[in-house]
Amino acid sequence: MLSRCLQLAMVALLVFSASWTLAEDAPAESAGIEVMSAFTSAEVKEGEAVAISDKTKYLVMFLMGVPLLLLLLATVVLGVAMGVYGKPVFVAHMVCAGLSMTLATAHAVVGLVWFYPF
Ligand code: HEM
Repeated sequence: MLSRCLQLAMVALLVFSASWTLAEDAPAESAGIEVMSAFTSAEVKEGEAVAISDKTKYLVMFLMGVPLLLLLLATVVLGVAMGVYGKPVFVAHMVCAGLSMTLATAHAVVGLVWFYPF
């Protein structure tokens, strides 16, 4: 009879201790959510390089694209003049080719940074 009473007492103790633990966990959890919400609700401030309007970005890409096309055209014309008509314009062809490649790289990098993945 005594051992039965002891068993019942132990079960009761287990049940109470479990409910106390749960009751203590709840406020800790909500405090954690409060702390996290301070971070998640904070306004994300964009860096200066990204905080440019789309219109300005298109304008910059266009202003880089026009000289790029002109330089490519000049390189092609000089290449044809040299290769087909035998004109001595190798240095001019090289200068235009170098500038074309530089501008093309800058154009591609800026385009990827601003518009990838559209
Ligand atoms: C239809 C267009 C083109 C033609 C007909 C052309 C023609 C030529 C010719 C004939 C040469 C050899 C010159 C020589 O060895 O005396 C040459 C060299 C070269 N071209 Fe062009 N080219 C054209 C477009 C381009 C473009 C768009 C670029 C780069 C943006 C370029 C870059 C070069 C470079 C780097 C060399 C020196 C290669 C070397 O000497 O080993 N070319 N080109």
